[in-house]
Amino acid sequence: MSARPNVLAIDGPAAAGKGTLARRLAAALHLPYLDTGLLYRAVARRLLDAGADAGDPVAAEAQARALTTADLDAPNLRTPQIDRAAAAVASLPLVRAALLAFQRDFATAHGAVLDGRDIGTIIFPDARAKLFVTASVDARARRRWLELQQRGVVAAFDTVRDDMQARDAADASRAAAPLRPAPDAILIDTTALDADQAFAAAIAHLAALGWYADANENR
Ligand code: CDP
Repeated sequence: MSARPNVLAIDGPAAAGKGTLARRLAAALHLPYLDTGLLYRAVARRLLDAGADAGDPVAAEAQARALTTADLDAPNLRTPQIDRAAAAVASLPLVRAALLAFQRDFATAHGAVLDGRDIGTIIFPDARAKLFVTASVDARARRRWLELQQRGVVAAFDTVRDDMQARDAADASRAAAPLRPAPDAILIDTTALDADQAFAAAIAHLAALGWYADANENR
C-alpha cells in the first residue's frame, strides 16, 4: 500500500486528449473521475449569467465559493465564449483557492483520477502517479475543430487554432498555478497516437509503478 494518495494526476494543454484518457484510466482503476476544467468553466458560466465581467476578481471569487456540483451539469460549458472566460477566471488566485478544497475533497474517500492544468503541481503534488499529456498545436487544434463540428458548431480552423494557442499561452504564463509539467510527471505526446495507443502508454507507466498489475487484461 502506498503512502501517497491514490490519485492519478493528468495535466496538459487544451485538446491534448486528457479527458478521453482520464475517463478510460478511471474506469480501469475503478476510481472516480473529475474534469477540473469544468469547475473553471462553471464558475465562468455563473459569472456571465450574473452579468459580471470574467475578469472581476471579487465577483469571480463569490461565484467560485457558491459553486455546487449541479453547476457542472450546466449546458453550454464548452462554447468559445466560455473557453475564454474560464481561462480569465482561472488566472485569479482567489478563484483557484476557492476551488482547491473541492478538488482535494473529491479524492478523499476513494482516491481519484483528475485532469487539469495544476493537478500534479499544486492540487496533489504527492499524487501516486502523474501524467503530462500533450500534442502538437496542429493536432490539438484539429481535434478541437472536429469536436466542434460534431456538435454542430461552425468555426474556422484558423480561428480555433489561434484561440487555443492564446489560451495555452495565458495558462502557461499566468502567475497563479501556471500550466507546466510536474518534475516527476511522465510525458505522453499524443500527436501520433490514437486513443487506444495513448491508453496503452499510460497503462504501461502505471504497471511499471506497480499500480496497475493487470495491465494486459484491459488492452
Ligand atoms: O477542454 P480544454 O482542454 O480546452 O479546457 P479545460 O480543461 O476544460 O479548461 C478550461 C480552462 O480552465 C483552461 O484553459 C484553464 O485556464 C482552466 N483550468 C485551470 O486553470 N486549471 C485546471 N486544473 C483546469 C482548467
